[in-house]
Amino acid sequence: MSRTLRLALFGHPVEHSLSPQIHRRFGQQLDIDLSYQAIDCTAAEFGPRFAAFIVGGGSGANLTVPLKHAGLGVCQQIDAGARAARAINTLVRTDHGWYGHNTDGPGLLLDLDNLGIPIAGRRILILGAGGATAGILGPLLGAKPALVTVLNRTGARAEALAGKFAQRGCIVGGGFEQADDLSGFDLLLQATSSGHDSVLPPLRRGWLTAEAAAYDLNYGPAHRAFAAWCDENGLACHDGLGMLVGQAALAFEIWTGQRPQTAPVQHALRQRNA
Ligand code: ATR
Repeated sequence: MSRTLRLALFGHPVEHSLSPQIHRRFGQQLDIDLSYQAIDCTAAEFGPRFAAFIVGGGSGANLTVPLKHAGLGVCQQIDAGARAARAINTLVRTDHGWYGHNTDGPGLLLDLDNLGIPIAGRRILILGAGGATAGILGPLLGAKPALVTVLNRTGARAEALAGKFAQRGCIVGGGFEQADDLSGFDLLLQATSSGHDSVLPPLRRGWLTAEAAAYDLNYGPAHRAFAAWCDENGLACHDGLGMLVGQAALAFEIWTGQRPQTAPVQHALRQRNA
């Protein structure tokens, strides 16, 4: 007898999240019967809402802002990536309790690989030193770039993050005011949340090589200002929809043991939300 896989996304806000659509499409693709509910809750509400989800037969969940850190508190086991990022985006029920993972960084790498953007031996410039950057640094450094430089409005935050990951590769951090002499980067990763206010962090074309690529971890309206700047400056630019679908595919694989194809789902989402 087939049993419906009960999945949910917890976070705030979640009403515009694309994750329910993505996981529904993955389920159809692999013929897996599932329900995927978006549950709007704050950090204070998370404990009781998650407990109710378990009682209702929930066996897997995603966490988004502001609950990725709170997720650490409900796990009996945590994988190395989530531990390093101090953030969980995927929870799976196992025989030994709840196991926490972070598929954000691996999801970005999956998308960069799909796009043909190499990391090994390359110089990477990251703008922003918040939760999004913390989530991707471990996997990114694991792909052996020549250098990762993190720039942030609050320089001390970038310095602290670089210090935390210093043993994993060549990484430095600082404030935008220290960026005057930077050059020669092959990839620009836009990981600030400034696009949500339709503003840009300080950007300079001179930081990047002629053939460099730009990738924004944001998508939709929050990506528009950055996309326009890339366009004006002749830079190949990608939004973070592929990373969103990539992290979802890796979560889906954790829950079901099967990796769905990302390209058809990404294509459908772009058409539907165009
Ligand atoms: P997230 O989880 O999306 O990374 P966060 O942890 O709140 O969210 O971090 C937001 C990031 O965007 C930070 O790097 C923040 O810079 P500060 O650390 O100085 O706050 C950056 N950011 C937000 N608004 C910005 C703006 N208008 N200009 C430049 N950077 C901005």
